[in-house]
Amino acid sequence: MAKLRGQERARYVSRMFGRISRRYDLLNTVMTGGRHYAWRQLAADAATASNLSGAALDVACGTGDFAFDLARKSNIEHVVGLDFVPPMLALAIGKARRQRLSAQTVFIAGDAHSLPFADDSFVCATVGFGVRNFIDVPRALSEMARVVQPGGRVVVLEIVRMEGRGLHNRLLPWCFQRTAPLLGAVLAGDSEAYSYLPQSVDEFLSASQLADVMGSAGLRNVRRRSLGLGMVAALVGEVA
Ligand SMILES: C[S@@+](CC[C@H](N)C(=O)[O-])C[C@H]1O[C@@H](n2cnc3c(N)ncnc32)[C@H](O)[C@@H]1O
Repeated sequence: MAKLRGQERARYVSRMFGRISRRYDLLNTVMTGGRHYAWRQLAADAATASNLSGAALDVACGTGDFAFDLARKSNIEHVVGLDFVPPMLALAIGKARRQRLSAQTVFIAGDAHSLPFADDSFVCATVGFGVRNFIDVPRALSEMARVVQPGGRVVVLEIVRMEGRGLHNRLLPWCFQRTAPLLGAVLAGDSEAYSYLPQSVDEFLSASQLADVMGSAGLRNVRRRSLGLGMVAALVGEVA
């Protein structure tokens, strides 16, 4: 796939997530051996560990799992999930109903680069496996920092480009590049979407670079934890 930029990339990403929305959860579970649930829970723990209570925001919410983890926290009154792909939002709304979380969650259409909320609206903002798809990561992270109250947290959970030349660091991306399109073809009938996945990781930032971008977005005390044999990172920053 040719390297896409700007609005052309945003349109491609939006169409692609629309196509695979129904198979998205299944593919996540197969590709991570079910670990993606634990990673979001750990990230939700970190997002809500401040002593603030109030509303939470989950950006690029997809089918809603991160929002549901936040909604179950005692200091979170309700969660807004935002995504720019309507079929993803429809699935999230259905899952909220089945998990009896409709009263605590609201799912809305919107773009991560221009959040439709006033400053300091939330006690935390999260994004799970979303920033890699954004066309302007610094801007989207600044938006997340803007809408969170001072003392609140911004949490990014993402597949990152592995650093270092060790065998492990080269072997894992190599396997990922070969297996993801195959699984996408078999389980979602869409090998193209799952070729985009490893390519987007290859073109993305490493965990340390992502931490630097979070710092430049005004977040303080940025910490990161490596997950999934180093392929995934959970990063937490505080709003000053
Ligand atoms: C890989 S999915 C992640 C879904 C969910 N957060 C999770 O943890 O599984 C990426 C999501 O980001 C959304 N997305 C990508 N770019 C976006 C943007 N600029 N604004 C809002 N949503 C976006 C896509 O529609 C998709 O639902």
